[in-house]
Amino acid sequence: MSRVAYVNGAYVPLEMAFVHIEDRGYQFSDGIYEVISIYRGKCIDMEPHLDRMWRSMKALSISEPMGRAALKIVMAEVIRQNRVQDAILYIQVSRGVAKRDHAFPADILSSLVMTCRRFNFTAVKDRAKIGVKVVSQPDIRWGRCDIKSISLLPNVLAKQAAREQGGIEAIMIDTDGYITEGSSTNIWMVTKDGRIVTRSTQDNILSGITRAAVLSIAEGLQMPIEERAFTLDEAKAAAEMFLTSSTSCAMPITQVDNTLIGDGKPGTLTSRLVTRYWDMMDNRV
Ligand code: PDD
Repeated sequence: MSRVAYVNGAYVPLEMAFVHIEDRGYQFSDGIYEVISIYRGKCIDMEPHLDRMWRSMKALSISEPMGRAALKIVMAEVIRQNRVQDAILYIQVSRGVAKRDHAFPADILSSLVMTCRRFNFTAVKDRAKIGVKVVSQPDIRWGRCDIKSISLLPNVLAKQAAREQGGIEAIMIDTDGYITEGSSTNIWMVTKDGRIVTRSTQDNILSGITRAAVLSIAEGLQMPIEERAFTLDEAKAAAEMFLTSSTSCAMPITQVDNTLIGDGKPGTLTSRLVTRYWDMMDNRV
């Protein structure tokens, strides 16, 4: 069955889903997006994702394409028309169509597109039993990484470099040697004395929805938590590491560059968090 996309008011087969070539998303990466997991037919963490989407639009003065209630109806319809149970829903809002000029017109109407594709969560869950390798890359992004902007070229190049070196993800390093986040994930370490450490969302990273969910699980388990920056060297010497995102869920990191983390297997505390995260996913549906 062919996939169905939503494009500015119409549900269309993916092959027929087009936007105007003077859309500012296309010309300037002038837009924002969200990626939401659909697990067993239900949106995971829909409200926090929509909160962040509205924050991103506000931060860039992009007009909302429709109200939040209407957006939820479109989301449900895209999911329904694609007949998916386990999937990734992609929502993008660009500033809209205008004659090319870096400055934007005040009265421009934003563009909304949505796509949905099947996703194998079982493969993610299975992978979490083994863990993944990540590769460090310089963070060359801008100073507003809290905005979920479609302007992702540094992230794209970092992920590609990681893939070419056999890694599943790039972890990005600032000029002082601190890990900021992954190219599309948040990064965590567990110290040798059992402290869960992840960078603060006040420190120019994306406020991950999965990050927030895992933090609350760790709090519930009364694990000591530190929200602070940590260096690549500190991470390589840590007992455990993991990453979080809507599509990776909570995923153990077993290797950074050529260094094995701990004994090169998913760590004990990480595995507890992974198990709890999946319990939460299963209980939410
Ligand atoms: N990426 N950091 C960055 C830079 C991200 O792009 C993402 C999400 C995250 C994790 O956020 P969340 O837990 O809300 O998914 C952190 C999505 C999945 C993507 O671009 O495909």
